[in-house]
Amino acid sequence: MFALVETFGCQQNVNDSQRIEGMLLEMGYALTDDREKADVIIFNTCAIRENAHTRVFGNLGALKHLKAKKPSLIIGICGCMAQQEHIAKRIKSKYRHVGLIFGTHALWKFPSLLLDAIEQNERVIDISENENIAEGLPVNYDGGARAFVSVMYGCNNFCSYCIVPYVRGRERSRLEEDILEEISSLAKTGVKEVMLLGQNVNSYGKDRGEKDAFALLLKKVCQIDGIERIRFMSSHPKDISEKLLQTMAEEEKICNQLHLPLQSGSSKVLLDMNRHYDRERYLSIVKKAKELMPDICLTTDIIVGFPTETEEDFEDTLSILREVEYDSLFSFIYSPRVGTKAAEWENASSEEEIDARFKRLLDLQNTISYKKNLRHEGKIEKVLVSGKSKTDSEMLSGRNYANKIVNFRGDESLTGKIIDVEITKAQTWILYGELV
Ligand code: SAH
Ligand code: SF4
Ligand code: F3S
Repeated sequence: MFALVETFGCQQNVNDSQRIEGMLLEMGYALTDDREKADVIIFNTCAIRENAHTRVFGNLGALKHLKAKKPSLIIGICGCMAQQEHIAKRIKSKYRHVGLIFGTHALWKFPSLLLDAIEQNERVIDISENENIAEGLPVNYDGGARAFVSVMYGCNNFCSYCIVPYVRGRERSRLEEDILEEISSLAKTGVKEVMLLGQNVNSYGKDRGEKDAFALLLKKVCQIDGIERIRFMSSHPKDISEKLLQTMAEEEKICNQLHLPLQSGSSKVLLDMNRHYDRERYLSIVKKAKELMPDICLTTDIIVGFPTETEEDFEDTLSILREVEYDSLFSFIYSPRVGTKAAEWENASSEEEIDARFKRLLDLQNTISYKKNLRHEGKIEKVLVSGKSKTDSEMLSGRNYANKIVNFRGDESLTGKIIDVEITKAQTWILYGELV
């Protein structure tokens, strides 16, 4: 029997999918990439923007003929999109070939839900809420030298545009011992780099009343033999502490790379977004980070076209880009989400204005990214080799401390190793180098 899990959305979903695959393997399924061959197909979905929904609905539609050909096929949908009631309803009425719908809170129940769907021959739905953490689920790591480890689930922040708190529930931090145990066992299988995940890792432990717990957790992860590199995301600027920045600067293993989502450079828009920091506070964090780590690589998230954003507010965002000089950024056009506060607000700008702003933002950032990449030229940097390059089979590909892709010539046996590469040429999106 074959099963296929397709993932939409963020790293947290990738990590959840690895758990679903782990459970499928324990149930005796083999994994496949081939939809035609699969007996079970699960879509693990994302709700963050409308285009995430559209993609899933499109893909679900395409599965109809497979179900017609093979009536025993079980098609399931789970994750953030499935957790929303209006979506579950729509799937129930319009996508009759979907036999299993379960939300983010029911992940741990997956084996029994799947068995129900197989045996009952009727649709199984579980989008109930439950604020537990399920420890001990099997995880199907991909065998590479880099791994994602969730340290907490949920979010308490209710940024006015964001669906995540509604689909992921309140913040729950995993116990330190569980996290450390998971990372130690990963290290034994050859993992060298871990990315610690949470919607806001800076509030790790706060649900238990702990202070600075994330910085302390990082220090302990640094002590695990075999783990050479540690990254984390995301950091909410409202909760970032000086202690965390100091820990990053002190600890060799923590990469000097920080993803610090800005969203907007206008203090007025930030207030409307319910972000709990303003332009000045954000810039003071950046200043401190740069003082402590002169080589720091900074990345961010920007939303263009938030309902209350005017041309002047957008100019404020561009001016922060010029001032901070991010290495790269993720930019999104605002997408209203059902149930969030901002979805009720009228848009101050037209679609054309927003599209034009989006383009201006990308143009400016491309110039900055190129400039920032140039500073790597001529340096010898440690690169964790991921394998053959996806774009050029003659080359190997890896990542430097800044998480930037470095392509270079070398033998495939270097995969999974950390090696010295001299950076010889920078482009906007990629670095090229030579083995030292
Ligand atoms: N917890 C993380 C963000 C997770 S979502 C944080 O706060 O940093 C990733 C990014 O998606 C957000 O940073 C934001 O830029 C974007 N995003 C979230 N909701 C959105 C919406 N409704 N429209 C457009 N972009 C959105
Ligand atoms: Fe969404 Fe804000 Fe929570 Fe991030 S911090 S997940 S943007 S509500
Ligand atoms: Fe999407 Fe859910 Fe992640 S909404 S961005 S998959 S937490």
